Amino acid sequence: LAALAPVARGVASSSPVGAGASTQAREALRRRNLAIISHPDAGKTTLTEKLLLYGGAINQAGAVKAKGEQRRATSDFMELEQQRGISISSTVLAYEYQGYKTLILDTPGHQDFSEDTYRTLAAADNAVMLIDGAKGLEPQTRKLFEVARLRRLPIFTFVNKLDRPSLSPLQICDQIEAEFGIRCCPVLWPIGSGDRFKGVLDRRTSVVHLFARGARGAIAETVAELPLNSAELREMLNDDELHAQLLEDAEILDELAPPLDLAAIASGDITPVFFGSAMSNFGVQLFLNAFMQLGLPPAARAVEDGGAGAAADFENGAIEAGTRVVQPTHAEFSGFVFKLQANLDPRHRDRMAFVRVCSGTFEPGLRVKHSRLKGKELTLSQVQSISGNERTTLDEACYPGDVIGINNPAGTFAIGDTIYTGSERISYSKIPSFSPEVFALCTNPSPSKYKQFAKGLEQLLDEGAVQRLRERGDMDGGAGAAPILAAVGPLQFEVVQSRLQSEYGVDVTLERLPFAAARWALAGWGAVEQATADGKLLGVRKLEDTWGRPVLLFPSEWKLNSVLADCTTLLQLRPYAVA
Ligand code: G4P
Repeated sequence: LAALAPVARGVASSSPVGAGASTQAREALRRRNLAIISHPDAGKTTLTEKLLLYGGAINQAGAVKAKGEQRRATSDFMELEQQRGISISSTVLAYEYQGYKTLILDTPGHQDFSEDTYRTLAAADNAVMLIDGAKGLEPQTRKLFEVARLRRLPIFTFVNKLDRPSLSPLQICDQIEAEFGIRCCPVLWPIGSGDRFKGVLDRRTSVVHLFARGARGAIAETVAELPLNSAELREMLNDDELHAQLLEDAEILDELAPPLDLAAIASGDITPVFFGSAMSNFGVQLFLNAFMQLGLPPAARAVEDGGAGAAADFENGAIEAGTRVVQPTHAEFSGFVFKLQANLDPRHRDRMAFVRVCSGTFEPGLRVKHSRLKGKELTLSQVQSISGNERTTLDEACYPGDVIGINNPAGTFAIGDTIYTGSERISYSKIPSFSPEVFALCTNPSPSKYKQFAKGLEQLLDEGAVQRLRERGDMDGGAGAAPILAAVGPLQFEVVQSRLQSEYGVDVTLERLPFAAARWALAGWGAVEQATADGKLLGVRKLEDTWGRPVLLFPSEWKLNSVLADCTTLLQLRPYAVA
């Protein structure tokens, strides 16, 4: 997967932006988009809400419904998934703050939806890793960190819930460094935790911000801003132990922590670390302000191919030698689809493709080319601007870093598709599918609903909700045989089952199949037949994916490992395949 990571870091930040820069360059450089990754319950909903509150996008905390609830139990999740109107579950939240246009891209926290998260991270320029200060790194933090790393995103760390007894901040930094191999550069350092959490030291200015607890939901008051080495600080803290600890920590950090270097953030060598409490508002605004300065604007993105005679501003990127990238300053428009969603608005049975703008300027009514459809031209007239649950017809220009919603009634767009203008074909690196780990036979017991079943399933497959596998050569899409669905986690099946029911009126049954892993055999059917003839694939089920490529389902990890040991060269097994 690493080889497919499409973002070349640190290229855009070197672009000049002065009075003479074009509107496009200026607009791109004031975009800051971020995706928050966290283990469920670490406080992602709360932090998102507070970022919106301090960013001036909402007036009062509580305006965003508790999404945390949805992950606690499957049934809750289903219920909320059905009432998809709540603003925070809608992909993108955009607002203006301090002259920057900020976009928060929502990512599901549950591991079963890691693939969805991965696609969203494909559209992000920065990731914020949120950690519960009492728990430290949790399984989903680890998994999502890996995913963000694959995308080569700069990672900011916010350690939350310091208003509760927490692990020591040094312990948390040690854990991050040891497990993730990324150096921590603390920016906001906490003074105490739990009831003794008094404030934070901003290491960039050596100023201590002391807070007072406000009412829940209200913007917290900063009681005082005092120099670290001042007598007033000692007096106001009124806790000699905490004061001594703070001075000692500050000294240790000055000696041991790496400098806050933008290039090192961009390359993922260091993560700026912030401590605070989203619920009590401690440190949230300081984090937001720092993020505006340290977060990356839209970066150059790798393309698969650019056709002959690349334009002057296509250049070799920083990822691997020979990787060609498109700069956000490239004059022609380009963007890619990172998410599809049907029935976003249940009143209008719509299908929407979310496109991340990567270069150029997008104006409503623009005529674009569709890279996968060999440059087929399309006029994009019905384009929506999306923020929260509001969708309005787009009536202004969009720039690199923005996300636009394109109506996709005929299913013209698939995840990973590139659209562009100009004579140079642009095709951004594809977004790979994750290797499925659970499999189920999907049966529609009522033949009279076949049409709704086929349509619903097709739309959910387009969205990437699950993958479909079938017997080799069964090209009728499962009209006769029940399709086999493959997913990363079982919750994905439940979402499909529930959405088929609520959005298409079809009650399907799902019967889990006893397979533990899937691998694509890139060598093709000839190789699979040979391995079968050699007796190497006993107990392995051979199916094909939507594109007719062989996929092998293994009953156990043990069987997978034995086939890997015997037939790697012959079959060229891969855990994923790119469409
Ligand atoms: P998630 O989206 O990552 O799943 O987390 P969410 O924001 O829903 O937060 C999970 C729980 O943690 C919530 O409590 C929330 O209030 C709490 N929380 C978030 N930030 C902080 C913080 O800084 N300090 C403390 N002490 N708690 C925090 P809950 O009891 O599950 O829900 P609620 O009744 O408070 O809404």
